[in-house]
Amino acid sequence: MNDLQHRGQVKHMGVSNFTVPRLEKAREASRSPIFANQIEYHPFLGEIPIRNYCREHGILVTAYCPIAHGQVAEDPTLREIAEVNGKTPVQVALRWLLQQEQVIAIPKSGEPSHIHDNIDIFDFELTSSEMDRIVALDRHERLIHPEFAPGWNES
Ligand SMILES: NC(=O)c1ccc[n+]([C@@H]2O[C@H](COP(=O)([O-])OP(=O)(O)OC[C@H]3O[C@@H](n4cnc5c(N)ncnc54)[C@H](OP(=O)(O)O)[C@@H]3O)[C@@H](O)[C@H]2O)c1
Repeated sequence: MNDLQHRGQVKHMGVSNFTVPRLEKAREASRSPIFANQIEYHPFLGEIPIRNYCREHGILVTAYCPIAHGQVAEDPTLREIAEVNGKTPVQVALRWLLQQEQVIAIPKSGEPSHIHDNIDIFDFELTSSEMDRIVALDRHERLIHPEFAPGWNES
């Protein structure tokens, strides 16, 4: 990747499913800053150490499965916050991610009305108390277990 970047064929280097020790190794090996780390991140999986590390080192967190495969739609807290804000629980979950420093989200949908809803999250703002209530929904629920996944608790 260093060579590709040196040759101008790669603009930025990103990684995926990297834990803190792997990010440390990547930063050591890379001749330029690591741009992004794509990880599973949604209201039910907090990933706090990785997020803190990324924030500290200017690495963008790209949240995959940001709406927990649609499960956020059923959560009572998200439903309540959604009602107050005139939005859906999915929109609240996406807004919660984007309102955090250096976090973006990549929800996937094949349904045009969902795609429309998923981008329609820039006309409201969650209060800090609403943000905190969503943080409290973390139940360490990992949905994706790829064969190549690292030991998530490695240190
Ligand atoms: N780097 C990695 O290791 C990794 C691992 C897993 C996934 N990813 C990537 O992350 C992206 C998203 O992940 P994902 O698809 O697994 O999870 P996701 O975005 O959390 O959930 C997708 C599911 O949510 C539904 N959905 C989307 N918008 C909705 C809405 N507004 N209301 C209700 N339901 C909605 C979709 O159904 P409809 O189609 O009916 O809307 C689909 O069933 C994908 O591009 C994937 O490639 C990366």
